[in-house]
This record gives sequence, C-alpha cells and structure tokens, in this order.
Amino acid sequence: MLKQLIVTALMTSIVFASSLSKDAKDAGLIAIPADKGSLLKLIDDKRNPITAKKTELGKMLFFEPRLSKSGLISCNTCHNLATGGDDGLAAAVGHKWKVNPHHLGSPTVYNAVFFDSQFWDGRAQDLEAQAAGPILAGPEMANTKENVVATIISMPEYVEKFQDAYGEDVKISYKLIADTIGNFERTLVTPSAFDDYLNGKEDALSKAEKSGMKKFIEVGCVTCHTGIALGSSMNIVGVTAKYKYANVGDFKGDVNGMVKVATLRNITQTAPYFHNGQIKTLKEAIVEMGRIQLGRSISDADATSIELFLHTLDGRKPEIVYPVLPTRTATTPVQNIN
Ligand code: HEC
Ligand code: HEC
Repeated sequence: MLKQLIVTALMTSIVFASSLSKDAKDAGLIAIPADKGSLLKLIDDKRNPITAKKTELGKMLFFEPRLSKSGLISCNTCHNLATGGDDGLAAAVGHKWKVNPHHLGSPTVYNAVFFDSQFWDGRAQDLEAQAAGPILAGPEMANTKENVVATIISMPEYVEKFQDAYGEDVKISYKLIADTIGNFERTLVTPSAFDDYLNGKEDALSKAEKSGMKKFIEVGCVTCHTGIALGSSMNIVGVTAKYKYANVGDFKGDVNGMVKVATLRNITQTAPYFHNGQIKTLKEAIVEMGRIQLGRSISDADATSIELFLHTLDGRKPEIVYPVLPTRTATTPVQNIN
C-alpha cells in the first residue's frame, strides 16, 4: 500500500515536472543547447566565422585599454567580465569621467550574441557592427579610427597575431579590429541550471524554482522575455502605466519609442536595472515590470518566487585567462587623457 502510494506520488511529480518543461517551451523559452556542435551553429556567423585564433585575438582587443584615447578604458572597463559583463553603474562612465549623456547604463555582453539587435534602441544589427561604435564615441573611448589602427600596427606582436588569424597579407583596418572583438564576444555564452532543466535534467531546478518558473510564465513575463535570451526583441516600456523613473535621462527608445527587452540571463549580477539604472533591486524590477508592462500588481510572495526562478539564469561563465598585451613601441601613439 505504502509502496503503491510512493510510486503514485513519484509518477505525479514526474508528470508535473515534465509538463512544466513543456509549458516553458510552448511559451517560447529556449535552452542554450548542451551539445557543443549545436551551440556553435547558433553563435557562429559565416561572415565572421569563429576560429580559436580570432577569438584569442578578439579577447586581447576586448581587454586592450590602448584602443581608447586615454589608454585607460577598455571594453572590459564598462563590460567587466568578472562582474556579470557590466559595470554596476546606473549610467556608464567613460573618457574624462563623462557620464553617458542619455543616462544609459551598460548592458551585459554575456549572451549578447543571442540578441536580434544591439544597444537599448536596437540600432546595431550584430556584435561586429556594435563593437565599432564605443571606441569612437566621445563619452566612451573617444578615439579615432586612424589612431586605433596606428596603435595596433605599432606593435609587431599584434601584427603577427592578425596575420596568424587572417593570413599573411591581412590588411589591419578599423573594421577588422571591431569584427575581431565581435568574434570573441560571440563566445560569451553562459548556460545555467535553467538550460539544464529544459535540456531534460529534471532535478536541475528545485521545487521552489520550478514554482517560480511557472509563475513567470503564468503572469505573462514570457510575452516579452522569451526565446534563448529571455529577451532581445523591441517593445514599449510602459504598456499599461508610465515607468516611474521615465524622466531620468532623455532616452526615449528607437524611432517608434521601442526599447530592447533586456535579457534576464545573469540578471542577479547586473543591478541596477532598467536602461537608466534607477531600479536598485531585482524584486523592485519584477514588481515595476508587472505594473507597467502587464497592468498587474505582483504580490510580494509572487515576486519572491519569480526572483527565485531568475536565480536559475545565473550562468556558468567561460573561463577567461586575462591576456598579457603586447609591449608598446616608439611608434605607438601617445595616450591622451584630455
Ligand atoms: C564607457 C563605457 C563603455 C565602454 C568603454 C564600452 N561600452 Fe559597450 N555599452 C555601453 C553602454 C552605455 C551601452 C548602451 C548604449 C546604448 O544603448 O546607446 C553599451 C552597449 C553595448 C552592447 C550592446 C548590448 C545590448 O544589450 O544591446 C555591446 C555588445 C557592447 N556595448 C560591447 C562593447 C564593446 C565590444 C566595447 C569595446 C569596443 C564596449 N562595449 C565599450 C558602455 C560602454
Ligand atoms: C511588454 C513586454 C514586457 C513584459 C510583459 C515584461 N517585460 Fe521586463 N522588460 C521589458 C523591456 C522593454 C525592458 C527594458 C526596460 C528598460 O530598460 O527601460 C525590460 C526589463 C526588465 C528587467 C530589467 C533588466 C535590466 O537589465 O535592467 C527585468 C528584471 C524584467 N524586465 C523582468 C520582467 C518580469 C519578471 C516580467 C513579468 C512580471 C516582465 N519583465 C515583463 C519588456 C517586458
């Protein structure tokens, strides 16, 4: 009798669990594939195919502060791979300590390969196009194309690495430098317990985390936070009510007033939240989303449950060995902090 009961209980829990996984998939949630071949297909781009040599060089450039006018700011300054791929600031700070003029925060670069478009207003189509922006932007790295290329070709070790990655007669252009950084960024994917669960590992999530996932789906967060990035399309901010800090900064989205749906992967690591970084805690972000995007008042208990689920999106980071960069030479342009 007891044995019978246990068997029934076990079966019920299996049925419950796998139906949740099905509900999640039906709602459009997609796991990062467990198998390396399928993942590579997803993150690769035939215009800029991933190779180990390009990725390694792209990593050096991502960490290269001499791509900035001051020689002090690298991509990693604002997209710190040690702290969730961002800087923890409400609005980014760049050259000469300038705060982003639109009061925009730095989004994470982890899993950015999965986004349909880049930037809060989606203005860059891919990582390669995106990477060409910040190096020249006045409030970010404030450099010029000519100076960037001159800096790289002044160091023979860089020239050799480019030849190694692209062939002897490579022409090191500004675009190629940006493309190479993009190539590295394509590899910054972070599979998590959420993915393990959707990939069939029933016990990857606790009971409470599964309830949180169920709540996340039921409440309607998946309308926008869906797909492999749990985000990435463009949407209005303030569907049912005005975002309470909408007046901080002058950012109004793209031409249609649309803002990129931020990814929820590693979301516990990238506070403060929203494009202008005004929301300090994850729970507050969940409640505000319910109010302005869904017209729902989310109870404290439900917000706690959803937050518990969001923790399952904390991903396993690729191991990144900090690169030793080439030594400057007599022809390397002088760093300029002004
Ligand atoms: C001074 C800080 C700063 C520096 C340096 C910087 N970024 Fe950014 N990054 C930002 C900000 C702020 C945004 C959002 C700007 C916007 O949407 O207009 C952004 C957006 C991005 C995005 C888009 C992500 C998304 O969710 O849409 C990527 C990718 C990115 N940066 C990569 C890079 C790379 C590569 C470099 C180096 C070449 C770099 N960034 C240098 C602050 C910085
Ligand atoms: C109608 C579409 C839509 C719905 C529904 C929606 N969101 Fe969002 N979400 C967005 C957009 C767009 C942003 C970017 C807002 C901004 O930065 O101003 C965002 C941002 C967020 C952020 C902050 C991300 C960051 O990096 O700053 C969190 C957390 C979040 N949403 C969670 C949720 C949760 C939980 C739900 C369900 C209660 C939900 N969202 C429902 C569209 C939506």
